[in-house]
Amino acid sequence: MSDKPIPGGNDVKVEFEDGIAWVHIDRPEKRNAMSIGLAREMNDVLDKLETDDRCGVIVLTGSGEAFSAGMDLKDFFRAMEGLSDVERHRIYRETRAWQWRTLMYYAKPTIAMVNGWCFGGAFTPLICCDLAITDEDAVFGLSEINWGVIPGGVVSKAISTLMGDREALYYVMTGKKFDGRRAKELGLVNDAVPAAKLKDETRELARELLGKNPTVLRQARMAYKYAREMNWEQASEYLTAKADQTDLVDPEKGKQQGLSQFLDQKTFKPGHGNYERAEEEG
Ligand code: ACO
Repeated sequence: MSDKPIPGGNDVKVEFEDGIAWVHIDRPEKRNAMSIGLAREMNDVLDKLETDDRCGVIVLTGSGEAFSAGMDLKDFFRAMEGLSDVERHRIYRETRAWQWRTLMYYAKPTIAMVNGWCFGGAFTPLICCDLAITDEDAVFGLSEINWGVIPGGVVSKAISTLMGDREALYYVMTGKKFDGRRAKELGLVNDAVPAAKLKDETRELARELLGKNPTVLRQARMAYKYAREMNWEQASEYLTAKADQTDLVDPEKGKQQGLSQFLDQKTFKPGHGNYERAEEEG
């Protein structure tokens, strides 16, 4: 077991459990509204977890009764008024780093576990995680229109990647709330489950991911995310090259193991589960 310190500790709480890093937005008294300090701490935490052996999968969630009540309106609106343009630019860059770029292209799989309120800016990290599970009674809302701003940051862009235009615009234009069951129908989450089962279901999904070849899992996630931005010709070339690169960088040599176990030893069928992964050394 690593003797490294546990990252976070102020507005971000990390708990390790058998390869899962439970990363909590930890401002329950503010319904986990995302402040500037939180952005800086989360950037540091995610950077550290990326190379931390205790973390094979990240679950992003919130402490207390909220996933996150969105951007901290005091920090991001009231307090911004007195700042220079350069300072504002830096704060937006730091915020978008963790909420969007880092989570979207993270080296390890990410699951958002929506345990309660999820408003406005919170849609960005939700959508930029690979997978998401919600409490079926969690409350979601693009509330920006209700108080005179647009879904900015990258919220409007993020929702357009998962929601259809009619549905996205309906919620952008009305600010109406919806629950976890509806979030599932809208494609924002993979599953909506009763609160009592939320952690167990999320843990089960995380464990399933931990059982996969981590290099191939990372390559597969990146291949999907980059290819969807390309045209067919570009995607075809890129995916062929990415597949070759995967063979090259995979220390487990998963493809060779899988082929040999299916074709030669006849001990495994890909349609039914994972190939037998060699025991890790050490
Ligand atoms: N920014 C700053 N502070 C917040 C935020 C926020 N987004 N959300 C909640 N808080 C604070 C409250 O001001 C309150 O602080 P106080 O104790 O110092 O008065 C504390 O968190 C608790 O909030 P309550 O409103 O008392 O909690 P309640 O459980 O009654 O309601 C709810 C929860 C519905 C989430 C409510 O707090 C709310 O509507 N929050 C704002 C939601 C929102 O629209 N977020 C912004 C989206 S737009 C964007 O992200 C750019």
